[in-house]
Amino acid sequence: MCGIVGYAGSKPAAPLLLNGLAKLEYRGYDSAGLALLEQGVRHQVSGVSKNNRAHLLIIKKAGKIHNLVSAIKSELKTDTRERITAGIGHTRWATHGQPTDENAHPHMDCGRRVAVVHNGIVENYQHLKKQLQAKGHAFRSQTDSEVLAHLIEEQLKKYPWAEAVRRALGQIQGTYSVVAVYEGEPHTLVGARSGGGALVVGWGKGETLLASDVPALLAHTRRVSYLDDNEMAVVTPEGPTFLDVLTGKPVSKKISDIEWTAEQAEKGGYPHFMLKEIMEQPRALEDTFTSRLDPRTGEVVLEGKFWDSPFIQKFRKITLLAMGTSYYAALVGKFLLEKYLRLPVDVENASEFRYRDPIIGKDTLAVVISQSGETVDTLVALREAKAKGARIATICNVMGSSATREADGVLLTRAGPEIGVASTKAFTTQLGALWLLTLFLAGVRKTMPVAELQKKAKELSRLPQQMAALLKQRKALEKIAREYSHYFNFLYIGRGIHYPIALEGALKLKEISYIHAEGYPGGEMKHGPIALIDSKMPVVAIAPKSSGVYEKMLNNMEEVKARQGKLIALVEKGDKLAASKADTVIEIPTVSEDLSPILSVVPLQILAYEISKKKGREIDQPRNLAKSVTVE
Ligand code: AGP
Repeated sequence: MCGIVGYAGSKPAAPLLLNGLAKLEYRGYDSAGLALLEQGVRHQVSGVSKNNRAHLLIIKKAGKIHNLVSAIKSELKTDTRERITAGIGHTRWATHGQPTDENAHPHMDCGRRVAVVHNGIVENYQHLKKQLQAKGHAFRSQTDSEVLAHLIEEQLKKYPWAEAVRRALGQIQGTYSVVAVYEGEPHTLVGARSGGGALVVGWGKGETLLASDVPALLAHTRRVSYLDDNEMAVVTPEGPTFLDVLTGKPVSKKISDIEWTAEQAEKGGYPHFMLKEIMEQPRALEDTFTSRLDPRTGEVVLEGKFWDSPFIQKFRKITLLAMGTSYYAALVGKFLLEKYLRLPVDVENASEFRYRDPIIGKDTLAVVISQSGETVDTLVALREAKAKGARIATICNVMGSSATREADGVLLTRAGPEIGVASTKAFTTQLGALWLLTLFLAGVRKTMPVAELQKKAKELSRLPQQMAALLKQRKALEKIAREYSHYFNFLYIGRGIHYPIALEGALKLKEISYIHAEGYPGGEMKHGPIALIDSKMPVVAIAPKSSGVYEKMLNNMEEVKARQGKLIALVEKGDKLAASKADTVIEIPTVSEDLSPILSVVPLQILAYEISKKKGREIDQPRNLAKSVTVE
């Protein structure tokens, strides 16, 4: 998820674009850049001075936006900055290519007359890049986005500016939210979107703006139009006109008035980043699968040479290393990898692993799971495993983080920045990534029949929309939260692949509501925890019917009720038997057992959020916690 801004008007564009990017930094912050259209510059062509023509200036830097601000101050004279009144900007969340100056947006064509900023994934970029290189195009970055600039350059040979952009976009498979500028039309920006995240047009007085999100516009206007998929906006200081990308025909768009405050707008209108990130999960999961999972063939493609190396066929065991929520994702991963690869899989709490002098060596694939890629215990465990001869892969959400730089292989989750301390979309995309890893390895090592690979891949591809349906339960969960928010202790129980979800549900509750909550395997109840059960101890039982231990969970539920425990049951839709045993029922869609953790965790995230909100907690920054534990 990246941040995009564009401006065409009469004010100095650079400071305005930088302020807009600063408002969008929560969407991505590994690099940033501007493309500025310097109007009416006298220039020399073969020694003869030519009439005034616009000149495209690009300044872009790896790192946070303040690096870009310093670069602009040092590279652009003040009077130049003041004179430039049109341009585009981008703050990046890397999905392809490390966060470097070259990979930062904007990207240019060969002739350096077109610049584009892009949010989304160009699935067919390798194919397009090869075609363009065959025509003589030289590329400067490893990103997918750069192809857009070269495609437009090709179309400009035959078509006027806006039509050239439209035809270039017609060659894209994947998702885009894009804004482009061109020296030949220095007062006209072109923006368009198809699945690549929002693109909003701001109607100003004598100026028009574009941005990925409302916060970047509020300082200038509250009158906006939202582009829908396959729509484009041709933007001049006088205002926008709208076209259909597929047909080129005009489109009429209504103007909305934004009521949000700037702070509310950063959260997309949600009261907390955590809720926004819970609601983003279907898109985040979809993005994590995009251009990797083929539901028709069951084929999984992972980026990077490591995944093609002979080691991938040879390793004999897997060790998963992580902390916190990522550790619970690893526990789910163990079930998948053991079941479909038939290899031994160890799951290690990284802080324990690093102090144990573990047995691990050349025959081991160590998979480090970390949202931030900076958790110190996890990084030290990574180095320990590497020192003992293991090869390292990482499932990580931050391209360019330490884990991604130190691992041999990277499998990026594409959740976009996760701001809330309580991990939500990172967790479900980690589970999605573990599925991609499982199916990829099973395909390469031929441990699953092709028919089963295809079946699983199809089921996986349906999960984002099933998850979206689940999110509609929020009102019902808010009601449950009101009923249970006064308790002081909770027990979460699950069995098999659902035990890690019991742990994760308990962690979500305890870390943001400060209510004591524990997760336990259902089979452990008689070994101690059942002594805790009385009317003051709500128990959340995760009991999907597809589970091989469903009957055992029903027994656990009976035991809780026999001791006056308050029972909240997570059951498959329509399962009347399990529902009849509970005081409160939360339904999840029926999917095969090993897929259901990705869904069953969602209501538990919302329940924790709603209880915590009811208790008036600081949800995005819970006391004593930090988003990434980079110190011991
Ligand atoms: C989970 O909600 C917490 N924020 C915490 O347990 C977190 O998962 C843990 O610190 C690991 O962080 P990482 O995934 O960035 O390595």
